[in-house]
Amino acid sequence: MRKLSYYVAVSIDGFIGAPDGDAAFFNTYVHGEYLDYLRTEGADTLPTPARRLFGIESVPNSRFDTVIQGRASYELALAEGITSPYAHLRELVVSRSITEFPDPHVEIVSGDIAARVRELKREDGLGIYLCGGADVAGQLRDEVDELVIKTYPVVLGSGMPMFAAGFRIDAFALESLRSFDNGVVVRTYRRQR
Ligand SMILES: NC(=O)c1ccc[n+]([C@@H]2O[C@H](COP(=O)([O-])OP(=O)(O)OC[C@H]3O[C@@H](n4cnc5c(N)ncnc54)[C@H](OP(=O)(O)O)[C@@H]3O)[C@@H](O)[C@H]2O)c1
Repeated sequence: MRKLSYYVAVSIDGFIGAPDGDAAFFNTYVHGEYLDYLRTEGADTLPTPARRLFGIESVPNSRFDTVIQGRASYELALAEGITSPYAHLRELVVSRSITEFPDPHVEIVSGDIAARVRELKREDGLGIYLCGGADVAGQLRDEVDELVIKTYPVVLGSGMPMFAAGFRIDAFALESLRSFDNGVVVRTYRRQR
């Protein structure tokens, strides 16, 4: 079975962005040894323009071959005129409002997305990258097998949560922890089932 990994940037207080979801401020920390980490171990999760910028556009996938993201997250790429933001992965965008395929490489999915992810997990291949945002992650909470949490050294006070979901205690076991000289900490957790 393939795994669903929520690979996400958060503040110290656990928000994935401002209250409106804006997360661009995290990018100011992308330099030095942390940038090296993203270029190597995080390469599969980088959008196509970043891969091009970092000179790793044709690096083969090692961890993920599929990405799923909500329409609001996808919209950020569309606003830049990019219709296939993860061209190196199979791309699924969750939406009801998008009725025509914006790009032949992008599959639009809707409805019971947890069931769709369970189908994907049964297929052969590398892992499935859950890109976010909070709405889609909330609906896929039960399907998340792994969390890779990139914590940036900022406190926001309020903002968009990792999961738009109700209160429940789900246990995860810490598998690894990496810290970088810019204050970013990357923790990997595996769900305890
Ligand atoms: N920090 C990070 O690492 C990170 C990562 C990713 C995203 N983000 C941030 O997250 C923000 C977006 O998060 P969000 O929670 O607002 O939205 P989202 O989860 O990206 O997308 C929500 C949209 O997905 C569609 N949708 C959700 N469930 C659906 C279902 N079951 N069936 C059909 N369509 C469904 C709807 O689109 P329609 O209206 O088209 O139906 C809904 O408006 C962005 O601003 C981005 O910056 C941060």
